[in-house]
Amino acid sequence: MLTGKVAVVTGGSRGIGAAIAQKLASQGANVAVIYAGNQELAHQVCDRCQDHAVTARAYRCNVADFDQVKETVAQIKADFGTIDILVNNAGITRDGLILMMKEEAFDEVLDVNLKGAFNLIRHCAGIMLRKKAGAIVNITSVSGLVGNPGQANYSAAKAGLVGLTKSVARELAPKGITCNAVAPGFIETDMTRGLIDNPDLVKSIPMGRVGQAEEVAEAVAFLAQASYITGQVLPVDGGM
Ligand code: NAI
Repeated sequence: MLTGKVAVVTGGSRGIGAAIAQKLASQGANVAVIYAGNQELAHQVCDRCQDHAVTARAYRCNVADFDQVKETVAQIKADFGTIDILVNNAGITRDGLILMMKEEAFDEVLDVNLKGAFNLIRHCAGIMLRKKAGAIVNITSVSGLVGNPGQANYSAAKAGLVGLTKSVARELAPKGITCNAVAPGFIETDMTRGLIDNPDLVKSIPMGRVGQAEEVAEAVAFLAQASYITGQVLPVDGGM
């Protein structure tokens, strides 16, 4: 159980992030939901978290912006008193074949998926260090482990997250802070709309179906409270 812990979830207004926020709340954690744009959705997620008798608040913040993240983390610390769990879930795709990929598409995807996680870890780790406890979970992807045609930018960012996870894990392990990653396969969300209806894609999944956001959230909740696991990547991909 996570009773009384404070969790920060980026990209928490929908999809996998919303499921993670609600899962952590269901186990007793107070939740700070960071969202990019849709305030109404973020507030709806907070309301659903609060059904579990915890405190939940929404914070608008572009995770790619170092200074905005610094301010937001300071505000969360002021509001909740501390941060125990950080889930770097915010992510975007700008797919395209490598010969056609625009420079901006590469930069944007790296900025949100990889630098965004760095920004959050950079500003939250000090708070965790002072209490010599904390858990960081980064959401990477099967694309970052085995690659995917049309996703050079996204795969690079997600593979980068694996390296970030492993180095931060080694660096912060002596301070009682864990850092792990979850690598989802194909999960039914806005990000995969249109893609997952492809029968060939479903056939490539040994379990014969796409995953649900809730199934990723279960793995995150597990790693958020694992006391002797760090630097690991846990695939949640139906056997891919
Ligand atoms: P989604 O598109 O439904 O949600 C992404 C969330 O990130 C949204 O709440 C969005 O507002 C937020 N976000 C985007 N840019 C942001 C920024 N600059 N600052 C703050 N928040 C920002 O996507 P989904 O499917 O829920 O994905 C969540 C995570 O899981 C992502 O990191 C994605 O790469 C990863 N993932 C998803 C898979 C899938 O099959 N859906 C598979 C593997 C990984």
